[in-house]
Amino acid sequence: RGRLLWFVDDPDAAGDAAYRYIADGLLVMADGLIASVGEAAQLLATLPPGAEIVDHRPHLIMPGFIDAHIHMPQTQVVASYGAQLMDWLNRYTFVEEQKLAQQGHPEKLARFFLDELLANGTTTAAVYCSVHPQSAQAFFAESERRNTRMVAGKVMMDRNAPEPLTDTAESSYADSKALIARWHGKGRQLYAITPRFAVTSTPEQLAAAGRLAAEHPDCHVQTHINENQAEIAFACELYLKAADYAGIYEDFGLLGPKSLMGHCIHMTKREWRAFAQAGAVAVFCPTSNLFLGSGLFDWDRARREGVRVAVATDIGGGTSYSMLRTMAEAYKILQLQGQSLSAFAALHAITRGNAVALGLDHWVGSLEPGHEADVVVLDTAATRAMAHRLETVRDLAEELFVLVTLGDERNVAATYVAGEAIASH
Ligand code: GUN
Ligand code: FE
Repeated sequence: RGRLLWFVDDPDAAGDAAYRYIADGLLVMADGLIASVGEAAQLLATLPPGAEIVDHRPHLIMPGFIDAHIHMPQTQVVASYGAQLMDWLNRYTFVEEQKLAQQGHPEKLARFFLDELLANGTTTAAVYCSVHPQSAQAFFAESERRNTRMVAGKVMMDRNAPEPLTDTAESSYADSKALIARWHGKGRQLYAITPRFAVTSTPEQLAAAGRLAAEHPDCHVQTHINENQAEIAFACELYLKAADYAGIYEDFGLLGPKSLMGHCIHMTKREWRAFAQAGAVAVFCPTSNLFLGSGLFDWDRARREGVRVAVATDIGGGTSYSMLRTMAEAYKILQLQGQSLSAFAALHAITRGNAVALGLDHWVGSLEPGHEADVVVLDTAATRAMAHRLETVRDLAEELFVLVTLGDERNVAATYVAGEAIASH
């Protein structure tokens, strides 16, 4: 019981009709699903005898947050000083990711990582593991134990990385294939074919990834594109026959409606068009783009070009696990470009918006009956500064804007996964 808020449509298209808000609502959960939702005054009388009622008033109850791009092996890379993308990868990330070869390390990281996501109210994520198959194995095993709905994959990379971090076209194909057979569709686990980016894959490996995508059209594909000028120059030098960076992925059958393309900051007209035609998703990673000095994502342009957008933390290029913090930075990035982002648009993006972009909207991102009961409970007055600020807000829109702008994991009062409350931190 609490204040229920969820989205049925995009606020940019549907305005106030896009969301549902019930000031004294009841969300009934049974067998891991949402059984019914409505006014507490009406629904309380319909509960079966013995039903447990958890009173979260005056907190907000929303669908669990969704993070469309995050790296499990980078939890100890976050906040590494003084480098832009290529340098950051070589100096910090590729050093850290080698540790996942150590016995027990992937399991330890998977536990920390899922604890941290859930503490931030994130119940679904699209996750990059390391090149080691056991990193994906450890992640899926931990996610299955917690019954979280997760999309993840073993990174494929066979060049331009330290030798211990490389696989081969053949081994990456075979290892990914085995992980798909073991985990894709098992409980709530889903597999994403994960060539890291064009720079770290040979044409043979991108061809192998394309073969996997063709053989498993219900798996996601996730990769990076057009994040940084030095990266773009390097990728295009390696693939001289491609029309442009997006053309590289297109040529290997890796640009489609299940493709989650990280960053998309420096895009040509042709690339936007190729994305729109393919139905590919541009994944906006605000804190990462600022931290690595990569550039400003042009959300209005994506909208104009008809390109689908998701939002993400991109830990450890990104600096916060919180999707609220992420949207506060998104707002500032759009401000610098004369664009706007309302609290409704921001909260839509990290729930229903990301669910639709990832094609998971029949399962998650909504409080409508039949959806999986992944829920975040938010205390909008969790900090002194926020409680103080809230004394002067006049309506829901203002309150939610304060939440998006100042909020983080301190505002997460509880997280539910498939109807079960997670012990908070
Ligand atoms: N491009 C290729 N790999 C990475 C990564 O790990 N993080 C970011 N931000 N960009 C990348
Ligand atoms: Fe990334």
